[in-house]
Amino acid sequence: MPSQQNVISMQKVCKSFPLEIGGTQQVLFDITFNVAPGEFVSIMGPSGSGKSTCMNIIGALDNATTGVYELYGRDISTMTPDELATIRNEYIGFVFQNFNLLPKRNILDNVMLPLMYRGLPMDERIKKSREMLKLVGLENFETYLPTQLSGGMKQRVAIARALAGDPKIILADEPTGALDSKMGNEILQFFKKLNKDMGITIVMITHEFDIAKYSNRLIHIYDGRITYDGKIPRSEADLMPKRDKK
Ligand SMILES: Nc1ncnc2c1ncn2[C@@H]1O[C@H](COP(=O)(O)OP(=O)(O)O)[C@@H](O)[C@H]1O
Ligand SMILES: [Mg+2]
Repeated sequence: MPSQQNVISMQKVCKSFPLEIGGTQQVLFDITFNVAPGEFVSIMGPSGSGKSTCMNIIGALDNATTGVYELYGRDISTMTPDELATIRNEYIGFVFQNFNLLPKRNILDNVMLPLMYRGLPMDERIKKSREMLKLVGLENFETYLPTQLSGGMKQRVAIARALAGDPKIILADEPTGALDSKMGNEILQFFKKLNKDMGITIVMITHEFDIAKYSNRLIHIYDGRITYDGKIPRSEADLMPKRDKK
């Protein structure tokens, strides 16, 4: 039954890509999970396990081959490209490993960008973007260019941009992948705060257990299958299904 209360609902989602030599490669196998409002979930798995493929489906950037994916109770597979762009803009704040900031625009412009599609008057866009820069502690940097900031600051700009549109969910793919551990820790603490204090739903993709530990729930993907879904386990070894001892 479609569940209106879930932010994300995947039921038996499979994804295959066509191969140039013919045939297909299946990358996701029967992925089933729900995310409720206010959760902070990490999707963890080694490189090539299918995390980004899964994120692209969650973010309405790609469709499942089979199975059902619903974003806030809405099946995205039937939507037109325009409807998809609208739903992405309204529901999802994306945060990427490499920040994806416009290098020639100052950080206020960068944060304002997603609000352009909202039909908001300019003064409201500026007001909202300034509030978001304040939230991430960069209110004194609005005229700076991204190149003048540290990696951690750039990621905070990207988070302010993601939050400016009042998204239902923050979707972050390896958000600390390009940061040293101190700046990475700062970003992860900030995610924790956003989740705890503001109740923002966060789905974070990572290949590292130490990063997944900042979330409250861990979904482990291995070779395109979920092998674990639950609280953060004590050890990384618990993420793989138990083998029979010989
Ligand atoms: N657009 C695509 N076309 C063909 N194969 C793809 C495509 N995207 C991903 N894959 C394949 O799917 C598998 C999982 O990739 P990906 O989801 O990027 O894994 P991860 O993010 O966990 O490293 C890889 O074998 C990759 O080569
Ligand atoms: Mg990836």
